[in-house]
Amino acid sequence: MYRFSKGMIKKKKHYNYINKIIIGVGSIIIMAILTLVIFVQKAQADKQNIQSGICTDTTERCVAITFDDGPNPKSTQRLLDGLKERNVKATFFLVGKNIEGNEDVIKRMYEEGHLIGNHTYTHVQLDTLNVNMAKSEIIQTNEKITEVIGECPKYIRPPFGAYSDKLLSEINMMPMLWSVDPEDWATKDIRGIVNKVTKNIKCGDIILLHDIYDTSVEAALEIIDILQSQGYVFVTADQILLD
Ligand code: NI
Repeated sequence: MYRFSKGMIKKKKHYNYINKIIIGVGSIIIMAILTLVIFVQKAQADKQNIQSGICTDTTERCVAITFDDGPNPKSTQRLLDGLKERNVKATFFLVGKNIEGNEDVIKRMYEEGHLIGNHTYTHVQLDTLNVNMAKSEIIQTNEKITEVIGECPKYIRPPFGAYSDKLLSEINMMPMLWSVDPEDWATKDIRGIVNKVTKNIKCGDIILLHDIYDTSVEAALEIIDILQSQGYVFVTADQILLD
């Protein structure tokens, strides 16, 4: 029969102890590496999903709803009521010449957390003007908006999506275009507008509508109800751009 000497037992216990430490530390390192790999892979997958419009969970289902050409004293107020009821923040691109007389509507927009941007003074196609005239369309509108809300807009939605980089560099504003356009201005068919938007929506989309038409306002509120029931979250368009 083989017998351990006291010294051998001591040594064996010592090795067991070291083994346990090595296994313990090794496990922690492996777990940390695995967690890191999973984290990086998830971040990459999320990025791809957002780009391709596949939503993986509710926190990523962000869309922005934007309204051009207003304000209009009646339809814009109705829209603001509906947005408030649904706790939705939207983005409004105002036409400068529509501001006078509608200051209360604009103040309300601002106070209720909507983002306000510039849509030129006379709804002109900017690339058909010389740079100075185009600048004046934008500056005049910025001044009018600043007078009402005390803040100068940072974003411009150029009418018809037409602008030049030279112009933008001179006015120091960010262009904000759109990705979903149901052409609501061309139809009174509320159902058609709603379907065009809700059937093609994906994460990170920016929806274009016009708050100067009652039909568009009604469609907008239906769109919001449908998309909210699908887990979409409405954010102001600058949040989409920043992502
Ligand atoms: Ni417009």
